[in-house]
Amino acid sequence: MSSRINVAIDGPAGAGKSTVARKVAQQLGYVYIDTGAMYRAVAYAANRAGIPASDAARLSELMTTVEISLEPGADGQLVRLNGEDITTAIRSREVTLQVSEIASHESVRIKLVEMQRGLAAMKGIVMDGRDIGSHVLPNAEVKVFLIASARVRALRRFQELSGSEIVPLEQLEKEIVERDRSDESRQISPLTCAKDAVVVDSTELSIDQVVTVILDLCRTKTVEAK
Ligand code: CDP
Ligand code: CDP
Repeated sequence: MSSRINVAIDGPAGAGKSTVARKVAQQLGYVYIDTGAMYRAVAYAANRAGIPASDAARLSELMTTVEISLEPGADGQLVRLNGEDITTAIRSREVTLQVSEIASHESVRIKLVEMQRGLAAMKGIVMDGRDIGSHVLPNAEVKVFLIASARVRALRRFQELSGSEIVPLEQLEKEIVERDRSDESRQISPLTCAKDAVVVDSTELSIDQVVTVILDLCRTKTVEAK
């Protein structure tokens, strides 16, 4: 039996999912997949096509034309939309403020979840998002639900901002809480902790401490899979 496993990391915005998922994947020699980047790519495409986040019919049509690809790049994962590199563009504030509503549409989720399951079929994947353990990969061998206080998560985001895009900490915290609420309350595969996930609170943990906790969980499961 293959000893490769799949690792699902879910949780609210700014909990550290992508940072630790990338490191865990590096340590294991696995592929890291940032599913949030896929939803961001759709939000970017909708924005560029002038489609409001509330327009289900036009979004459904858009989904028949978008081709999203993820490739390993020198500084992390490269995101392409119909061949165009949009890695930096999908991190804009505009996309961040619209992505949760875009991600609530069935047509968007159906296409992206199918793609995510296809990418994980060969095992040896670390995937982060909101519904990976609960919906996308219900059989993932390791499931982590990563949390941290809203204030600490906002502070982490605040520290990432560069000079031209300064937003007050209080506002960032408000936006993060609002996005979590929207992700938790949507009808289709909301942000939720899978029953068999291990909850890790990173409020007072360093990145490396979180990585160690997850690698320990993976080690146990890899031994079981042998
Ligand atoms: O990095 P950050 O926490 O800001 O968010 P992200 O992981 O890039 O995800 C952006 C948004 O995509 C989330 O707020 C969700 O609305 C949506 N998303 C989702 O619905 N399901 C996923 N598996 C991943 C992201
Ligand atoms: O993917 P997600 O939105 O959950 O969070 P992230 O983008 O991985 O992490 C947000 C920021 O928090 C990054 O700048 C990380 O370096 C930082 N971080 C941290 O300071 N301490 C941790 N234990 C985890 C992440």
